[in-house]
Amino acid sequence: MRDNLPEAPVPPKPAPRADRVSLLTYLRLFRRDILSAQPARLYRAWMAEFRTPFFRSYLCNDPALIDRVLKERPDDFPKSNRIRAGLEPLLGNSVFVTNGETWKSQRRIIDPAFEGGRLKDTFPAMVAAGQSALARIGAAGDEIEAEEEMSHAAADVIFRTLFSIPIGHEVAANVFREFRAYQRTQPILNLAAFLPLPRWFPRLHRRGTRASARVIRGLIAQLTRERAVAIAEGTAPDDLATKIMTTEDPQTGQRFTPAEMVDQVAIFFLAGHETSASALAWSLYLLALCPDVQERVAAEASALGETPDFAAVAKLRYTRDVFREALRLYPPVPMMVRQNLCPEEFRGRKVKPGAQIVLSPWHLHRHERFWTSPDSFCPARWQTEEGRLAARDAFMPFSAGPRVCTGAGFAMIEGVLILAMLARAFRFARIPGADPVPVAHLTVRAKDGIRLRVTRR
Ligand code: HEM
Repeated sequence: MRDNLPEAPVPPKPAPRADRVSLLTYLRLFRRDILSAQPARLYRAWMAEFRTPFFRSYLCNDPALIDRVLKERPDDFPKSNRIRAGLEPLLGNSVFVTNGETWKSQRRIIDPAFEGGRLKDTFPAMVAAGQSALARIGAAGDEIEAEEEMSHAAADVIFRTLFSIPIGHEVAANVFREFRAYQRTQPILNLAAFLPLPRWFPRLHRRGTRASARVIRGLIAQLTRERAVAIAEGTAPDDLATKIMTTEDPQTGQRFTPAEMVDQVAIFFLAGHETSASALAWSLYLLALCPDVQERVAAEASALGETPDFAAVAKLRYTRDVFREALRLYPPVPMMVRQNLCPEEFRGRKVKPGAQIVLSPWHLHRHERFWTSPDSFCPARWQTEEGRLAARDAFMPFSAGPRVCTGAGFAMIEGVLILAMLARAFRFARIPGADPVPVAHLTVRAKDGIRLRVTRR
């Protein structure tokens, strides 16, 4: 049954293409912008097949198929090699790209650092990063570029929680700067899963991408080496890096070496700051689009005080619904790609081993069969029966199953906290004519940034 939802504005979405485009046109559009290349029918279909001369891709919107791939038989659907090749220069052998036993062992070491109790320990570092963001925005004048500000804030959260250093620290600031250079040279993340190139086709990493990746890894190596020494001397702070570097895999007794830790830190930094920054920047835009929603968030956040505590953030129910609605409309990771090892049958169609299986929060979160007014920004939907059902079947901003985002709990606390702190301190407004248009880079970003007017409350 569909619930009645209040009238709600429709924030920008690239206009979907007509249903029938040739493969060549699709790829040309795709290369320019993955999101506006999407035909309208994909927002209604349970599944779609794309044929290329070298392999096939299957976009799955059917919850039963998604469950099979992500939850029931994840070992039969490892991460796609095509994606792995693109990220290798930066991420090496990190948990984001590995498969099989290596991946399982890495998760056994990493997961305990992100459990509930530990998250509480990292909370003061998140608050400190939020307070720095308030000071920066307060000094920025009457207009901000929200993506830039939120990247800064999310990078600060990661450095403070992982290594107990603020973004102002020299090494942290250098990693952040290099990352921006890296991102500018990085082609669209999942392009490789669709482009009709054979597997042996040489991966073209632009020279700038490799050079930035080398610099970033060099800087992170300095941090992990220093931390290994501090751990040995008993002077290391009790943060996420120390926790991960001192945790043994309970099955093999092994720990990460400082060199292996570089791969993991690179992914925490990439996965943990790009994504949160994207979600927060879109959340601010949506608040600017809906002043009444913004006032409700500000009213709820007024209970937080200057230095929010952990328990108070857990009570911000409406702010959490706003953040979830932003994750629904602009999922930072728009698509994920797997590869099947065995012959499969998907909705009556034979799928040969080696196909690219695309799981798409972007399509699922706006799917007409699951959501009422799928393109509308409507935080109230999360308190309806439909919202609860769709949350189960058609909402996966953090993926699902054993490979679910390690930082999901972390990101939900960080996102709600920072959003509430900002809404409590400032009022954000649209700039007419400057509404952002979403495009997919490493994460879903705005084509020309997200410019907003800011006034102090
Ligand atoms: C709003 C914020 C975030 C979103 C939307 C997000 C989303 C995701 C998604 C969709 C995946 C799965 C990708 C795939 O399977 O291809 C993922 C994986 C991952 N995320 Fe997040 N993430 C967020 C924040 C974070 C944070 C804060 C951290 C760490 C501090 C983090 C660490 C990771 C790691 C390590 C993986 C790889 C897990 C694995 O493959 O086993 N993420 N994330």
